Formats: sequence, structure tokens, C-alpha cells
Amino acid sequence: MKIAVIGTGYVGLVTAAVFARFGHQVWGVDIDKPKIKSLKSKIVPFYEPGLKKLAVEGIDRKKLHFTTSYKKALKDAKIVFICVGTPAKRNGEYNLSYVFGAAKSIAQNLKRNTVVVIKSTVPPSINKKVKKIIKKYTDVSFDLASCPEFLREGSAVKDSLHPSRIVIGAESEKAKSLLLKLHKPIVGSRLITDTKSAQMIKYAANAFLATKISFINTIARICDEIGASIDDISKGLGLDPRIGKSFLKAGLGYGGSCFPKDTWALVAFAKKVGYDFAFLKQVDQVNQGQIDYFVKKVKKACGGSVKDKRLTILGLSFKPNTSDVREARSVPLIKKLKKMGAKIYACDPAATREAKKAIKNIKFFTDPYKALKNSNALILVTEWEEFKSLDFKKAAKLMKEKIVVDGRNFLDSKKLKELGFRYNGVGRQ
Ligand code: UGA
Repeated sequence: MKIAVIGTGYVGLVTAAVFARFGHQVWGVDIDKPKIKSLKSKIVPFYEPGLKKLAVEGIDRKKLHFTTSYKKALKDAKIVFICVGTPAKRNGEYNLSYVFGAAKSIAQNLKRNTVVVIKSTVPPSINKKVKKIIKKYTDVSFDLASCPEFLREGSAVKDSLHPSRIVIGAESEKAKSLLLKLHKPIVGSRLITDTKSAQMIKYAANAFLATKISFINTIARICDEIGASIDDISKGLGLDPRIGKSFLKAGLGYGGSCFPKDTWALVAFAKKVGYDFAFLKQVDQVNQGQIDYFVKKVKKACGGSVKDKRLTILGLSFKPNTSDVREARSVPLIKKLKKMGAKIYACDPAATREAKKAIKNIKFFTDPYKALKNSNALILVTEWEEFKSLDFKKAAKLMKEKIVVDGRNFLDSKKLKELGFRYNGVGRQ
């Protein structure tokens, strides 16, 4: 089956590579000419485990193609996925101009009946407008559907090949059966619903996961006050199958291109339909507040001030196994520490190139030991496995002061204390 995928970011590129792997003829489209040129030369513009291999395989097998031409991609395509970005606007709503632009370009190049599937995260009211745009520019019939994406960066390929669920929001039998057929080789629960509900599932899932994180971070603050252990509390909660053990890791809070943006967007969407989602606003406030809370911890650990202190930040990406720094906690944290007079030495296994665009006037290192030399404190921001297996004996000798502030409760506090470090976690004693 020929498929067109509009947008070659995380969602689009992974979607395209996965369907190419199942033998379909997939055409990835993007308006970004240099990006398409790179992809044609088998260069994946971001780090995502397993993606390069999958994409190169698809290109070599002549199943995966890239173009800037909608005309080429849409010719004879049975399904077209809209996977373009939906960045946040100042008021929290999504900027949907890329989705609308894609809808217009699809319409202008539609030559036969096609199923148009929205995969980008969008407010559940958008379908009417997308339909209107397509109808404005073509008389060719089409079916609209929604297939929200639940993949996580850092494990995007694995999540796409083994999804927790496949949600298909379809408005016609044709769209439903074609999308079921397309997903046939992928094992996982299927849920067929209407397009609005499909899009609402995506919103609600991200809001719920963000809520779990802010909840556990609030409990961690109480733990700090009373000297209880958040690790044990998370374990104790997770043993209850009604709660589940995932997304109960306390620390610096959530970042990335999804949770912050999607919670703001849901608050804005709720407001539009007449509901004040005060509860979700609070989730966001707790998350934003984690940075100041953590800065206070760093200050206290450094004896009351970070002025002229050399602080080594380990981890810049918003989570491990990705080069993405969008809404990464490292960015506001470093900016605040710098403002307070600290000298920042940062190290990340994959995100340095991206971080350099977001943070200026700090020193970047590829070798964590060089970053730790003469440092007053090690500050763990992203839980890359590489940092867990550091030689802390060596680190202790290199550092000026043996202070660790762990923003992800990731390091072995017992071992570090045995080595003479003063260890500080979040809700962890
Ligand atoms: C998230 C969802 O998990 C995906 O299901 C969804 O498809 C995706 O958003 C999206 O909307 O596209 P992602 O942003 O890649 O995926 O990353 P997560 O693994 O969910 O982590 C998000 C943030 O929460 C990270 O900053 C992470 O460090 C933080 N987090 C996660 C915690 O602070 N504590 C936890 O217990 C778990």
C-alpha cells in the first residue's frame, strides 16, 4: 500500500520507517529542504535509538522515500498521515498553522479518494476545520480519521513496534477498515472510536501522566520535611495495581515537547469549552516550581551560595536516550544558577549540539571527568546510564568538594556516601 507521511519529525519519521518496515511504500514529506536532502542521504537529524537503522533499511529496500513534493508523495497514496508539529502559543493553545497548511497542500494534490489521518496532537475540535480546508481546495472525496501517537522519545521505535494500544478514531467504515488493515502486523490492543474521542484520549493520557509526576513531586517535598523516603513511598504505591508503578519518579519534574505543551493546551481547550481546569493548572505550577525548589537545594548543599562556584551539570536532554532539549529542565535550571553567579560546566552524551542553541556562555564537555575537574558540586539533571556507571572514586579525587545534588534520584546514594560525598536527592535522605 502507498502511504504518505507529512512531517518528518519524531512522530513522522518513526511512523514512516515503521510502515516501510512492514513492506509498504512510504513517502515522507517535509517543507524543510535541507532536512529532506539529509534524509535522502541517510542522515537522521536527531538521536533516537534504532531509528537510523530502521530508516536506512527502508531506504535501501526502496520502501522508504523522502520528498518535498506533495504531488509525488500523494500520487496513488491510499492513506496520508498528518504528523506536523503543533508548537505551543503564548496563551497555551497549540499553533495549528502547520496542520492547516498540510491540509491545504494535501487538498491541492488529492487525485483520488484518500484517508487523511491526523496523528499530530491536536484539540478535539479541529476535525471540522481540517475538513473545511480540504473541501475548499478540492472536490475529490476523502475520509478523515485520527490515530493519536503514544510513542515516547528515547524508545520511539520500540513503542511503535510494540504499542500499549492503537487508537483509531474513524468517521467512516472505509477509514476504519483501512487503518485496521495497515496496523495488522503490529500486536497491541485496538480501540475504535470517533475522531474527537481519539484526540481526547491523547490529551487525557498526557495530562494524567503529568499529574502522576507532579503528585509524586509534591509527596517528595513532604518527605524532605519529615525525613521519609520517596523511593519507598513510590514502591509502596506501585505495589497497588490500581495505581501502577510507572511515572512515580520524583525529581526535577517533566520536560519535553509533550507534557508541558499538552497540559497547557488542555487547560486552554477546557477554557474554550467553558471549563476552568484549575486542577491541571496546579499540576503545571508544581512542575514549574520544581526548578526553584531544586535551586534552593543546590544553594543549601553549596553552603548557602553558588556565587563563583563551579557546578558540573550532568545531563542536558529532557530525558535520557534523546538529543532533544525542548522544555528540558536543564535550560531554566542552568539559567537560574548562572544568574546567581555560578560557573556552569555541562556534559551530555547526545544533546550538546541542541543545548548550545538554548544555553549560552557555559562550558560544554564530552568527557564527564573533565567536566568534574575542580568542581564544587555534581548536579545530576538527566538520568543517562553512562552517569550511573561513572567511576565515582576517580570523580571524588578530581572534584574540589565532594557534593552531589541528584535531580532524578538516580545515583546510588549509599555508595556515594561511603565514598565521602555529601549526597542530596529529592525527597530522599
Ligand atoms: C510522552 C508520553 O509518555 C508518550 O506516551 C506520548 O506519546 C508523548 O509524550 C507525546 O505526546 O508525543 P515523552 O515526552 O517522550 O513521551 O517522554 P516521557 O517518557 O513520557 O517523559 C516525559 C518527562 O517526564 C521527562 O522529562 C521525564 O524525565 C519526566 N518523568 C517521567 C518524570 O519526571 N518522572 C517519571 O516518573 C516519569
